[in-house]
Order: sequence, then C-alpha cells, then structure tokens
Amino acid sequence: MELVPMAEILQKADEEGYGVGGFNVNNLESLQAIIQAAEEERSPLILATSEGAINYMGMDHVIGMVKGYLKNTDLPVALHLDHGGSFEAAMKCIRKGYSSVMIDASKYPFEENIAKTREVVQAAHAVGVTVEAELGRLVGNEDDVTVTEKEAAMTNPDEAVEFVERTGVDCLAVAIGTAHGVYKGDPELDFDRLQKINDKVDVPLVLHGASGVPDSDVQKSIEMGIRKINVNTAFQQAFTAKLREVLEENPDMYDPRKYCGPARDAMVERVKDKIRAFGSDGKAW
Ligand code: 13P
Repeated sequence: MELVPMAEILQKADEEGYGVGGFNVNNLESLQAIIQAAEEERSPLILATSEGAINYMGMDHVIGMVKGYLKNTDLPVALHLDHGGSFEAAMKCIRKGYSSVMIDASKYPFEENIAKTREVVQAAHAVGVTVEAELGRLVGNEDDVTVTEKEAAMTNPDEAVEFVERTGVDCLAVAIGTAHGVYKGDPELDFDRLQKINDKVDVPLVLHGASGVPDSDVQKSIEMGIRKINVNTAFQQAFTAKLREVLEENPDMYDPRKYCGPARDAMVERVKDKIRAFGSDGKAW
C-alpha cells in the first residue's frame, strides 16, 4: 500500500459525515499503539508528526517505520506534518515522502499567513500532497508551539472564507475554544462560530487540542463540519499513567519492554475509544 493524500481520507469522511483522528506519533510505541487500534477498528489513519517529534525520532526513522508498516496493511494511511513552522520544514517532509503537511503560520498577521500558506499549497499541490493551515490561535502548548491566553484568538468566519479562497488550502484548522495540552477548566466550544464557519467554508475543518474535550462535544462539532480531530495529550497520559503504575509496582524492573509494553496496550484502548467516538471505525476502504 502507498500513502494516500490526507485530502482523500477527509473527502470520504465529509461525504459520509464522520471524523478521523489526526493522532500524534512520538516514538515507536505510540506508532505501534495507533496502528494496532486502527487495524482492530478498520479505520482510515492519519499519522501526525510534529517537528519536535521528527527531531526526536529522526526523519529517516519515521519514514522507515511507516514504510515498513505500509508493506503489511491495506488501510488507507496518510503521513502528516503537524504544525509545520516554515516552507522549508514542509518541503523536507514532502521530499521524504509525506502525503500531507500542515503549514502553521497562524502567529503571523492575516496577509502574511495567507502568503506563507499559499506558497506551501502551490509547491505541495504540484506533487499531489495535501495541505492543512490554521486561522486563529489556540491557547496552550503543543511541542514547539506555545500560545498564551493573551495571544489566543478565535477564527473569524468571514476571514476563513477569504483565507481558503486565496490560499487554496485543502483543510482548515479553526480556533473555536479548544486548547492544546492539559485544560485548566472545562472547555467551552463556540458552536455558533463553528456553524458560521462551516456555512461559509467548503473545505473540511480540523479541530486541534481535542484531548480534553468531551466526546459529546467532539461529536457535535463533527455534525458541524469537523472532519479531522487531533489528539496527542490524552494518549500520552494513558501511556504514562500505565508506565508509572507498572514501575511503582515493580521498582526493580529495568527492561523497557516490560514497562513500555503494558503502557502501549493502555494507549491502544484509548485510541480505539477515540476512533469509535469520531465514527471512523469500519470506514477503511
Ligand atoms: P492535544 O495534545 O491537546 O490533544 O492536541 C493535539 C493537537 O492538536 C496536535 O496538533
């Protein structure tokens, strides 16, 4: 199986009205857990790697692991750069074989965000690669991206239409009240804003920072056009909680396979829960 462009996965989700997880890969065990869950649930798969995760694992190792997996699966799989910070970062991933990139120029003023996004779209589309961009800014911390409450901004629906038209982007990440990382209080999603954006914008929408959002709210957002839902923190928490438990019970344990294995199994269950909550179970083709 070859990697598929992420746009293909999102287009089918859009036609049939479900969401697909953009699940972050941070190491071998997280990749194994996500793959196992997707195989068991027969879900299309979007493997997301941030620049930080690529630096941690090594780009060639990421590519090697994913290509190895592709030999043994018939699931549709996209490999996606999460929060690419520059044209160069996006091009490096495309050159190595990624089928999707995010250019996150949301920290720049509107016109600059458009210019930076359009530049990546033109190059990526020339070789059939999907592009995600972001308009508005989520509070919180995701790897190298930190946004304070003062810097955060919700997506303006009118700007969203103009942004999509002028950039030609395939899918748009919107800021509607979610946050990256661990939530301070209960998240309050601005569904009116999401509905307005969805009424005006005709590309699939992306929800970042979904870890702390109740499934019922994610499901409501899927009804309003969200097609890709990014989850990282919740899976890291599931992995680490189990790892801690095993080490606390076995303080003399030193073989990483003995504590990473159960942690990975715990993560598999969390990923499966999310796949079912988003409705992509059984949707592989
Ligand atoms: P969380 O870490 O909050 O789940 O967010 C993930 C994300 O949005 C990746 O881009």
